[in-house]
Amino acid sequence: MSGIHAPLAGESRQVARSPRRAGGLRIEHVSKSFPLKGEALLVLDDISLTVEPGEFVAIVGGSGCGKSTLLRLLAGLDTDYQGTLLHDGAPIHGPDLQRGLVFQDHRLFPWLTVEQNIAMAFTNTTVPAAERRSRVAAEIARVGLDGFAGAYPHQLSGGMSQRAAIARALVGRPDVLLLDEPLGALDALTRLHMQQELRRLWLDEGITMLMVTHDIEEAVYLADRVVVLEARPGRVRRIQDVALAHPRQRRESSFVALRDGLLADFGELAETPAQPAPFGAATAR
Ligand SMILES: Nc1ncnc2c1ncn2[C@@H]1O[C@H](COP(=O)(O)OP(=O)(O)OP(=O)(O)O)[C@@H](O)[C@H]1O
Ligand SMILES: [Mg+2]
Repeated sequence: MSGIHAPLAGESRQVARSPRRAGGLRIEHVSKSFPLKGEALLVLDDISLTVEPGEFVAIVGGSGCGKSTLLRLLAGLDTDYQGTLLHDGAPIHGPDLQRGLVFQDHRLFPWLTVEQNIAMAFTNTTVPAAERRSRVAAEIARVGLDGFAGAYPHQLSGGMSQRAAIARALVGRPDVLLLDEPLGALDALTRLHMQQELRRLWLDEGITMLMVTHDIEEAVYLADRVVVLEARPGRVRRIQDVALAHPRQRRESSFVALRDGLLADFGELAETPAQPAPFGAATAR
């Protein structure tokens, strides 16, 4: 099932909560291969998806199906692919402060303070020093790290480190936030709290969110649409609309039905015999 186009504007989706109209993404027939043992390993196969400005889209799929690869392409960190990637109509050629990226792990530099780590986002930009300082301070406050500007990563909890990583992505005032399992390493309670924080950020700022997660319930809790990828090669299996009002109630029957429907998808994916994974990687869950 390759080359599925997401539904376009005008369908039953709740998007664009703020007047912000930037932050649209178009992924058009994107394929990506990596060289492996002298051959090309096809990782993404003809992916097409349109993300509207202000929309929250979650991507779920088994380990190794190409989720991080797709986010890296969208971030502009890898420009070697086939197809077209557009951000508000402009081709993506490289990294841009307008697209913030939060990695699977927080990737803070251990030898830099929270403040210095966040300010790293301004490397190779012309933002003046005074403005850098004030924007860094504002993001530290926004993610609730007041008092920890001078702390080093080893002095932070896991949740605090992820907040610092989110602040680093936000300080560039992006209109798109690309989140690669941002809460994956957190304990269950911190994770629930951070889900609420992400929702608040999204509702308040109207930033387009594209978030990879392994947690189906998290996807249904946050997203307007959930994109299910299948593995080897990575393809769009289906796209589920989540037309539930916020704040969503995890025990409500409509929520449970959507979650269970997506989980059933995963059951099928897990039962598909996986080909041997390169590098001993985990197979689809
Ligand atoms: N730089 C690279 N060189 C070669 N192969 C790579 C490279 N990066 C990723 N791959 C391969 O591409 C495939 C997809 O990797 P990717 O990291 O995108 O998966 P993922 O869906 O994010 O998995 P996970 O859920 O485990 O994070 C894997 O088979 C991986 O081995
Ligand atoms: Mg990944």
